[in-house]
Amino acid sequence: MPRISYRQARAFYDRCGRWLDLQRSLEDPAFDDLLAHAALPSAGRVVEFGCGTGRLAQRLFTDGLSPRASYVGFDLSPTMLRLSRTRLASFGPRAQVLPVSGPPRLPLKDGCCDRFLCTYVLDLLSPADADALVRQAYRLLAPGGRLCIAVMASHSSLANRAFRTVWTSLHRLSPLFVGGTQPADARVWLGVGWELRHCRLVCRFAVCSQVLVAVRR
Ligand SMILES: C[S@@+](CC[C@H](N)C(=O)[O-])C[C@H]1O[C@@H](n2cnc3c(N)ncnc32)[C@H](O)[C@@H]1O
Repeated sequence: MPRISYRQARAFYDRCGRWLDLQRSLEDPAFDDLLAHAALPSAGRVVEFGCGTGRLAQRLFTDGLSPRASYVGFDLSPTMLRLSRTRLASFGPRAQVLPVSGPPRLPLKDGCCDRFLCTYVLDLLSPADADALVRQAYRLLAPGGRLCIAVMASHSSLANRAFRTVWTSLHRLSPLFVGGTQPADARVWLGVGWELRHCRLVCRFAVCSQVLVAVRR
């Protein structure tokens, strides 16, 4: 299926991004599960790709990161960068938010972090960019570090099948109607360098997410 370009993604999230938090009741159960398996108290440095409005980052600081831990989030949308910087301002220099553009390549050193988060982004990237992003996560994570992912997922329930029929039809008409997102299975991006620690389907009403935590060997 067609994917959206970087320019389209930036325009879409610049225009609609501020409304993203309205989906919080659909995403919070997946965030809860992800944070329960991210072993946050032992994290030293967290990297997030596609940080959006900074909602997950704010939860990290209020729900589990140690006072010594730091965070750096990346996004391609200026609106998202502004919203997340405003939201995280009270955490001072411990929270940094930086712009990215083009194929995923993060300007950080190998092994610089011990948690890499990516929620509802891999499911909108092209297959090549999703592969590249997971390779970046592998490069940036120190051995033993955790990759923590949430993606929109498929479930066999009638409600989710109906929801996906509508979603996929909209995506076919134009991927822009649904922000480029389509249901995915994040396990396909994990190669031999990863040990799968946690994989769960979390559904809220008709909408399902896959939450996955893998340890970098
Ligand atoms: C569906 S939102 C998810 C935001 C946030 N992670 C969450 O779970 O609420 C997708 C985010 O990824 C960003 N994004 C989309 N394509 C990107 C790319 N190629 N590089 C970096 N960020 C991207 C968007 O600007 C947006 O903030």
